[in-house]
Amino acid sequence: MRVVEHPVLGPLEEQEEVTIYVNGQPMKAIKGEMILATLLANGVIVNRYTRKEHEPRGLFCGIGQCTDCMMQVNGIPNVRTCITPVEDGMQVEVQDGLGTRRAE
Ligand code: FES
Repeated sequence: MRVVEHPVLGPLEEQEEVTIYVNGQPMKAIKGEMILATLLANGVIVNRYTRKEHEPRGLFCGIGQCTDCMMQVNGIPNVRTCITPVEDGMQVEVQDGLGTRRAE
């Protein structure tokens, strides 16, 4: 689901890749892109489930304002994935409710 041939910007150039782990599964990401971009490129559209109704949430605003894209990242809950860049080896998990902070 990546735009590899943009009508104005041209073809997608070769990019350095990193690997993140989404619910334990390795996923290739382009260095510097936001976590949410990697997820969408790989067909992942659910980032969290609401606390009371357990309803799925995903991309809504895409600019860090709505909190619908929050996930647990490296054990830290409530990370807005639309404004957080990937890092090699990053652990990303779908968040249930308010999430739980992992003890270090
Ligand atoms: S999609 Fe709204 S904060 Fe990320």
